[in-house]
Amino acid sequence: MKIIWLSDLHLVGSGELLFGCNPTEQLQCAIDVINQYHSDAAYCVLSGDLVDSGDAASYQQLSQQLAGLQVPYLPMAGNHDNRELLKESLELPQPLDTEFIQYAVQAGHWRLLLLDTLRDGHADGQLCEQRLRWLQMELDRDQKSPTLVFTHHPLLPLNLPMQDQESLHSGEQLLSRLQKAGNIRHWCFGHVHRPVSGSFDGLGFTAIQSIAMQAPLPYPNWNWDTFKPADELPAFGIIQLERKSAVVHFQQFRPG
Ligand SMILES: [Fe+2]
Ligand SMILES: [Fe+2]
Repeated sequence: MKIIWLSDLHLVGSGELLFGCNPTEQLQCAIDVINQYHSDAAYCVLSGDLVDSGDAASYQQLSQQLAGLQVPYLPMAGNHDNRELLKESLELPQPLDTEFIQYAVQAGHWRLLLLDTLRDGHADGQLCEQRLRWLQMELDRDQKSPTLVFTHHPLLPLNLPMQDQESLHSGEQLLSRLQKAGNIRHWCFGHVHRPVSGSFDGLGFTAIQSIAMQAPLPYPNWNWDTFKPADELPAFGIIQLERKSAVVHFQQFRPG
């Protein structure tokens, strides 16, 4: 079972460059590579920050580009997204159980659990009581399927000082809830615009590059005033889910 994973597209509908990169061209390049080599994938997860400024023109552009993707996509909200415009513009599994964009999808014997950590008007993330209740119901509903969880925000700090200020509120609480479920196998998230892997209290995780611009490591340290994208290639993920394993590859691509 193959799942493709794109994060942090930061599309700009006006076509303007973003820190010198062209998100429209870069997304198109990713779509072309996916169509060429991965059209057999079951799904393509889009783990948030789908557009840069949450405006209607950018979602329209995104919808048009995704129409050319040969793999069914599963969109999620990030801190740069507008939940209502996202819902209006993109195809979502119907019906959604909550006003939030969070849902479960069966992929073979695996369950994909896509959560909505958008905290309106803020860069950091949140799972409010309503979203946590939905999550608990979903965890109780299926206590058997090996489960891969996707969020936009990281759960806990990653030794990335600027991004760590914007991780998920109450991440530790959420982590213990997931661990109690017993069938959560791995956690994937975006937001940090870097490839990172490790484990939080025994739960393995993977973060991935942005389809648009990459964040540098903090050596030397930087802040949002001095931010300059790292001179690194964008990448998307290829997740292979087997009976007892989840393997994540990063496929870099060179736009233009
Ligand atoms: Fe982002
Ligand atoms: Fe983000």
